[in-house]
Amino acid sequence: MNARKTAIVTGAGTGIGRATALRLAQDGFNLVLNGTRPGPLEEIAKEIGADKAVVAVADVSKRDEAASIVATSVKAFGGVDVVVNNAGVVLPGTADMLADADFDRMMAVNVGGVRNVTLAALPELRKSKGNVVNVSSVSGMRGDWAMYGYNASKGAVSLMTQAMALDLGRYGVRVNAVAPATTNTRLAEPLKGAPKAIEALHKRIPMGRLVEPEEVASVVSFLAGPDAAFVNGVILPVDGGLSASNGQPNFLDQ
Ligand SMILES: NC(=O)c1ccc[n+]([C@@H]2O[C@H](COP(=O)([O-])OP(=O)(O)OC[C@H]3O[C@@H](n4cnc5c(N)ncnc54)[C@H](O)[C@@H]3O)[C@@H](O)[C@H]2O)c1
Repeated sequence: MNARKTAIVTGAGTGIGRATALRLAQDGFNLVLNGTRPGPLEEIAKEIGADKAVVAVADVSKRDEAASIVATSVKAFGGVDVVVNNAGVVLPGTADMLADADFDRMMAVNVGGVRNVTLAALPELRKSKGNVVNVSSVSGMRGDWAMYGYNASKGAVSLMTQAMALDLGRYGVRVNAVAPATTNTRLAEPLKGAPKAIEALHKRIPMGRLVEPEEVASVVSFLAGPDAAFVNGVILPVDGGLSASNGQPNFLDQ
């Protein structure tokens, strides 16, 4: 058995997943880099080092493909210590307009993906007394305008985190989540052409800016690591104080 610990990161090719993979590599983990496109994953694997990272191309919404990620980890590194369920899709649309297929896709990837990879990894996590960190969102706490499908999916991720923490704690397996506010990744790209939307977002975040992916990665690293050995079932906001607000307007900047 390899002495280094091993982490699976889903959706590792871009954004928060990429930053998390690089951070966990820095922390000393071997990395299993999952995503649907090999190109970006292979680049990250090269950056980390071929003996410390493998690529596992798979669609997490499919049970058998999710299982193949775990099989890759066992084959390359002898087991699984940490699963970071980061893969996700955002398909906006109001409650009356969002297409059925878009709603179903968010449920399949964002909710089904977390379940599929976690359950596939569970036998290994029980052996390693490992842990799971899910990437939920502030959108899993309360509603956003024109995001009801995404809200439903991230609400499910947050509650699944807590419920699994209850069920799996007895095996020594911890399950936690981070809940970032709008993060500076390609998901936020459309906002960049809409300065009023960016301004409105900045106003709602007490620290006055978007989250950087590395700031999410460092919190994932904490939850995945030994300093969080007795932290279980937590949904940790990484939101500059956004969720501390009850939703009333910010009068300080008027
Ligand atoms: N950017 C934000 O504002 C924000 C805020 C809170 C939470 N999040 C969450 O963070 C996570 C990462 O998002 P991001 O902002 O880095 O965006 P991103 O689009 O860069 O990352 C998502 C990654 O998931 C991968 N992916 C999508 N479907 C997949 C599937 N079926 N199987 C495997 N991989 C798949 C994509 O290829 C991509 O690499 C998502 O779960 C997202 O919901 C993002």
